[in-house]
Amino acid sequence: MKLIQVGIGGMGNAWLRAVLDSPVAEFVAFVEVNERIAAEQAQKYNLTGVPVYRSLDEALRNVRADGVINVTPPQFHKAVSITALEAGAPVLSEKPLADTRHAALDIVAAADRTGVLHMVTQNYRYKPPIQTLKRALREGGMGEIGAVHVEFFKGPHFGGFREEMAYPLIIDMAIHHFDLMRFFLESDPVQLYGRSWNPPWSWFKGDASAAVVLDFASGVTVSYDGSWCSQGRETTWNANWRFECAHGVVAMVDDQVYTQATGQEPTLVAPVVMERTDQAYLLHEFYAAVTQGKPAITTCQDNIKSLGIVFDIVESFERGAVVRSALA
Ligand SMILES: NC(=O)c1ccc[n+]([C@@H]2O[C@H](COP(=O)([O-])OP(=O)(O)OC[C@H]3O[C@@H](n4cnc5c(N)ncnc54)[C@H](O)[C@@H]3O)[C@@H](O)[C@H]2O)c1
Repeated sequence: MKLIQVGIGGMGNAWLRAVLDSPVAEFVAFVEVNERIAAEQAQKYNLTGVPVYRSLDEALRNVRADGVINVTPPQFHKAVSITALEAGAPVLSEKPLADTRHAALDIVAAADRTGVLHMVTQNYRYKPPIQTLKRALREGGMGEIGAVHVEFFKGPHFGGFREEMAYPLIIDMAIHHFDLMRFFLESDPVQLYGRSWNPPWSWFKGDASAAVVLDFASGVTVSYDGSWCSQGRETTWNANWRFECAHGVVAMVDDQVYTQATGQEPTLVAPVVMERTDQAYLLHEFYAAVTQGKPAITTCQDNIKSLGIVFDIVESFERGAVVRSALA
């Protein structure tokens, strides 16, 4: 499968590695607006033979590609993804689908109009601890889920766009956790309420902390507490999860999954072993969907429901009100 990667710095590194390690994918071009990054990456990955263009339009005019990997910052996702879709090139885009609800809806409309595949990298679904937790919920015998509690606390110093944007925790990071709620519960929220704030020591311009309560169509209530400027003991990137169930608890703490039946000691669940994870997993699914017609996962048509949670939460922060999901 011949690929063009747009954006090769930052998270682009994970995609360079995933494609270079894949037996079924190869690069035919890169698009990168920063010449220094383009030169450094070509040298670092020994890719000096692959042409680098300044725009996707130019790349698509010069090479034939089976797909485009979009690893630009969120505000460029719409332009890059729609350019590819309209040229008939399937897209594998980094999350979030787009930076605004309108931009995301425009991408979904372009994918529907052209009939070209657009997948979003919700790679957190395809990690061993998350797959282990999913299996424990399905097979652990703890019964019906009544409520879920999610805690996410980290203190990363990224620099760059995340420290400038509004609501960095919710818009740039928590999309993974909201998408996981839909993945675990196999349901969508009908309404939610959230509050955000920025602790006095925060190095982010936008609010780096938030608390959100979401009511899912299945009747389950989820509470989410998170901060990106925590000064103490951190959770993992996957967050800590606790499912309160009819016959006990299913929990993931520091990526270890436990079940605990009522009145019993907790039991550690054996981790699921995966042949591929994260970006490599999604790259392979993209390849199978594009070249073999395998039903695609994490399509933009599904992902808009995860991203919709993010925008509903922002609306709740700004209106100070309970927001009903437009999709409910
Ligand atoms: N799935 C994950 O776990 C995960 C983790 C980190 C970042 N991301 C996502 O990856 C995307 C990129 O984030 P990042 O941290 O790599 O950002 P970054 O700013 O570090 O890097 C973006 C790269 O794209 C280039 N670029 C910017 N605009 C461009 C354009 N219009 N055309 C071509 N190249 C362009 C930049 O020069 C840079 O090399 C974001 O959507 C982010 O949310 C996902």
